[in-house]
Amino acid sequence: MFSPIDTRPVILTGDRTTGPLHLGHYVGSLKSRVALQQSHRQFLLLADTQALTDNAHDPEKVRRNVLEVAIDYLAVGIDPALTTICVQSALPALAELTLLYLNFVTVSRLERNPTIKTEIQMRGFERDVPAGFLCYPVAQAADITAFKATVVPVGEDQAPLIEQTNEIVRRLNRQIGRNILVEAEAMVPRVGRLPGVDGKAKMSKSQGNAIPLSASPDDISDAVRRMYTDPDHLRVSDPGRVEGNVVFTYLDAFCDDRQLVEDMKAHYRRGGLGDVTLKRHLEEVLQTLLAPIRERRARYAAAPNHVMDVVREGTRKARERTQATLAELRSALGLFTLD
Ligand code: TRP
Repeated sequence: MFSPIDTRPVILTGDRTTGPLHLGHYVGSLKSRVALQQSHRQFLLLADTQALTDNAHDPEKVRRNVLEVAIDYLAVGIDPALTTICVQSALPALAELTLLYLNFVTVSRLERNPTIKTEIQMRGFERDVPAGFLCYPVAQAADITAFKATVVPVGEDQAPLIEQTNEIVRRLNRQIGRNILVEAEAMVPRVGRLPGVDGKAKMSKSQGNAIPLSASPDDISDAVRRMYTDPDHLRVSDPGRVEGNVVFTYLDAFCDDRQLVEDMKAHYRRGGLGDVTLKRHLEEVLQTLLAPIRERRARYAAAPNHVMDVVREGTRKARERTQATLAELRSALGLFTLD
């Protein structure tokens, strides 16, 4: 599978290890990664160094979640025989490339990056932005290019990071006079972001509106019961709104029976379909989806040494690949070598 004649396009993507993954990650990325691992040579990065850029006060959380996110990957069906799972902080080539790339980016360009601008606002850093945070797009460029990835599946909000990566690639290649680094393309999921159960724009653990992949049957029932619908839909017979109704957004994302969802939408709009019935259907869909994931998750969680073996093995493979890119670049730039 990983012989030199492997011609499948290379994917690199990853997740900050700040907490276990949830349903938003499932529809937004995990599901497609499971499919893509057949047709692509896929590397998944447990981005612990990047997690530290806004969690330097809690390295223990970042470390603990390396295992948790790895368990999530395996539980949803990422197959280590097809996909390489690796830890960012254990790949020194990434840090070295970051340092080199920083010379090919200006501070003002970093400050203009729309992703960073929003994130700085969201985190309330104001003027006290950690330098590591401002520069994480450069580190992400190092991640992507070190693997020579051409496809980067990321959420829409991350697209400007890929743009910035490609700017760095072009600058470096121009400097060197050869195309050593390759440009990458963002692969943005068809489905938009999954809103939180409270109707807020984004499902996020820190907002307390997420359904984790490990959710128990009771957690799922509670979450669906609390779910935001149409506040004006008071009686069952009233016509209800489908737009902005979180239950329908979730049905669109998770129910495979499209016809049934369309019928339910029409019925709801007409009046006569109650929130309780509607929610009962969504609950069933989510229970069915999450039961096998939860079961596999529990099995992997009971075997952390096995999971860490998978991660170590993947990290070794990734180390080889990223060191090779670094060596090429160092040599092209004519940097000093000891031996
Ligand atoms: N920025 C991504 C996130 O917040 C994680 C990540 C780190 C990543 N390095 C990457 C994604 C490289 C794609 C490619 O989840």
